[in-house]
Amino acid sequence: MVRQHVNPLSRFFQLERSLPPPGELFANPAQPIQLDIGCARGRFLLALAQQQAGSNHLGVEIRRPLVDAAEADRQRLALTNLHYLFCNANISLETWLAALPPGLLERVTIQFPDPWFKLKHHKRRVLQPALLCSLAGALAPGRELFLQSDVLAVIEPMVAVVEASGCFARPEADARPWRQANPLPVATERERLVMGQGLPVYRVLYLRNEAPVPSPQSLEDGAEGVDNPATTPAPEPAATPGSP
Ligand SMILES: C[S@@+](CC[C@H](N)C(=O)[O-])C[C@H]1O[C@@H](n2cnc3c(N)ncnc32)[C@H](O)[C@@H]1O
Repeated sequence: MVRQHVNPLSRFFQLERSLPPPGELFANPAQPIQLDIGCARGRFLLALAQQQAGSNHLGVEIRRPLVDAAEADRQRLALTNLHYLFCNANISLETWLAALPPGLLERVTIQFPDPWFKLKHHKRRVLQPALLCSLAGALAPGRELFLQSDVLAVIEPMVAVVEASGCFARPEADARPWRQANPLPVATERERLVMGQGLPVYRVLYLRNEAPVPSPQSLEDGAEGVDNPATTPAPEPAATPGSP
């Protein structure tokens, strides 16, 4: 039986796994890469890779049995522009992303991430400042970061950290605060479930801009106040002419 959740902060998941370079994952490693973080059973990418054969698709997932099952599906279909890897995205992606040839990463998706509702568990959520900095460092200007969730309390802090980084902008034409349509031609498993129940989905598409990547620590400090406004110090009142 596959566990519903694993604790990404447990010691076992803190070990960095060395992820193979594109040349070992895909038949044509020069093709642009789409990265899906938290791909679960991988059916979204299995369909997308067949529809978008001109890209390579990589799914990363922390529950190994799901990765094994997804890889078996991929091999059965002999898809050479698709791969699934078992890892903790927060630990193992940084090195892999930093080693990618510039411009190769086309899109990153984080879809319906585990909510970890309790405040003391927020550090288990996948989009932490350090991961966002690694993604921003690997995405060239104009490349995409797509986020979606059915839980406002989960996607709002994700948006806050992306906005605080200054590295991404939304397309002018996109509705605020949430984009209506999914820009991708395939829905994830969770997305189909939620939409089948008639529940709302909150979506944001970001495009990488030209801004330099902040340090993870400064982003952590900057985003903290947004997640917990009560802790944000009140701004200094503006000095008026003649005031002491
Ligand atoms: C709620 S599921 C959503 C799956 C899929 N994206 C969808 O929309 O149907 C979130 C997935 O992210 C995985 N996950 C959570 N934390 C992770 C981490 N640090 N690294 C990699 N995968 C992670 C979970 O194991 C789970 O399969």
